[in-house]
Amino acid sequence: MPKFNARSLEASLSDTKFFDRGARRLDAVNRKIQRRANNPLRQYFENNDQRMINKWLHYFDIYHRHVAPFRDRPVTLLEFGVWQGGSLQMWRDYLGPKARIVGVDINPACAELTGPQIEVVIGDQNDREFLAGLAKRLGKVDILIEDGGHHPQQQINTFEIFWPIIKNNGIFLIEDLHTSYWERYGGGLRGPLTFIEYAKGLVDQMHAWYGHELPDLNPDVYTKTIRGMHVYDSIIVFDKAKQIKKPTQKKTGYASF
Ligand SMILES: C[S@@+](CC[C@H](N)C(=O)[O-])C[C@H]1O[C@@H](n2cnc3c(N)ncnc32)[C@H](O)[C@@H]1O
Repeated sequence: MPKFNARSLEASLSDTKFFDRGARRLDAVNRKIQRRANNPLRQYFENNDQRMINKWLHYFDIYHRHVAPFRDRPVTLLEFGVWQGGSLQMWRDYLGPKARIVGVDINPACAELTGPQIEVVIGDQNDREFLAGLAKRLGKVDILIEDGGHHPQQQINTFEIFWPIIKNNGIFLIEDLHTSYWERYGGGLRGPLTFIEYAKGLVDQMHAWYGHELPDLNPDVYTKTIRGMHVYDSIIVFDKAKQIKKPTQKKTGYASF
């Protein structure tokens, strides 16, 4: 806090910049309060007296932007990484009574968190056979939140096995991707195959329609089903499309030269 004496206060009062600055700060605080008030997930989190949730605060805007269209509908949300179970409860509250929430964790203690609308499955993301069996049993999933072990192979296993069962117009949201840069999670910069590096490969695949000069770039299932990738700090949200056709272009209007 700045210290005022009578002279500096008098000088400040005659300085309109002083008031402008104050008004701008107040505006910024108001906008922040408004954003929070408009985000039911953030509100739930701030008032949480249920099971524990641990989140990076900038995730809430991203969640709300991408998950809001699924609220109050009979959707399935699958979350890898249950921990204390608080986020499963948060998603149940946010999505409403028609939602089915499934959590997966390696820790057997999480099994006791099964309850109304919530099923918890115990298993390991390193185990592709377990994942494939679960995908087969679950049927289609509208929203997948990947917040499990954070090791690249676990993340890639989960993406490759569950992408086919994400519904058309559904989303695969993977978080805590800063771990791609942390050695203890097998991370690094550009060298090892982290999920961030893997995702860069998916950006290439999205553009494989244009790879006729490149023998190694051919359209595949990801070219035809990833409608968009939204890259945020530590989160990527993948939008699923039913069947993307080879893009076409056309011209309208007239040319004058
Ligand atoms: C970051 S916590 C999940 C936090 C929770 N989603 C939340 O927001 O409150 C990560 C969880 O992943 C689980 N986990 C770690 N390795 C795993 C693996 N190989 N397979 C499945 N779950 C794993 C841990 O037991 C832990 O509960």
